[in-house]
Amino acid sequence: MSSLLTLIQQRRSCRSFLPQPVPDDMVQMILKAALWSPTSKNNRPWEFVVVQEKETLQKLSACKPHGASFLSGAPLSIVVLGNPQKSDVWVEDCSIATILMQMTAEDLGLGSTWIQVHKRMHNDQVSSSDYIKDIIKAPEHMDVAAILAIGFKEKERKPYSEKDLLWERVHKETYDR
Ligand SMILES: Cc1cc2nc3c(=O)[nH]c(=O)nc-3n(C[C@H](O)[C@H](O)[C@H](O)COP(=O)(O)O)c2cc1C
Repeated sequence: MSSLLTLIQQRRSCRSFLPQPVPDDMVQMILKAALWSPTSKNNRPWEFVVVQEKETLQKLSACKPHGASFLSGAPLSIVVLGNPQKSDVWVEDCSIATILMQMTAEDLGLGSTWIQVHKRMHNDQVSSSDYIKDIIKAPEHMDVAAILAIGFKEKERKPYSEKDLLWERVHKETYDR
């Protein structure tokens, strides 16, 4: 099997991390994956904010009521922002950058989890994106797509197996076959 496919099979979301920081050279490699990622019309409508300060991670972990609390225990996060004025498909571009960062983190022996921000709410009035932008001092015209939580894994999770492959979702020539 190709080494990339093996990596794809092994990658599982990691939500509990060892306290040790992620070395700077690893952070750089993860960011290279984002900055080399393909974008529609090569618009590159994204920006990335690397957050390692405990207090900020704690605040970001409250960006939505569910599914982000574990961020307070991560040594590193990367906030992925898109500029809707630069591209109408900024969500796709940000998503590609995010998954490529996850795969690079996995390849470096790190764990990660994607925290969904786009279309999520902090509370009844405030979107998760606006809540985060206030904390990281991002400009009004940007939107937060996701936050990636990254760190050394506290424990390994079972990789995917052949049994997990939903081959029935793959159709040949037409949808009914
Ligand atoms: C677009 C997207 C948004 C996600 N948002 C969250 C999230 O907000 N919080 C979370 O804990 N996990 C989130 N995840 C992780 C998924 O829950 C996880 O990928 C899925 O359950 C499959 O598990 P695996 O990553 O171990 O293969 C997200 C994943 C994707 C692709």
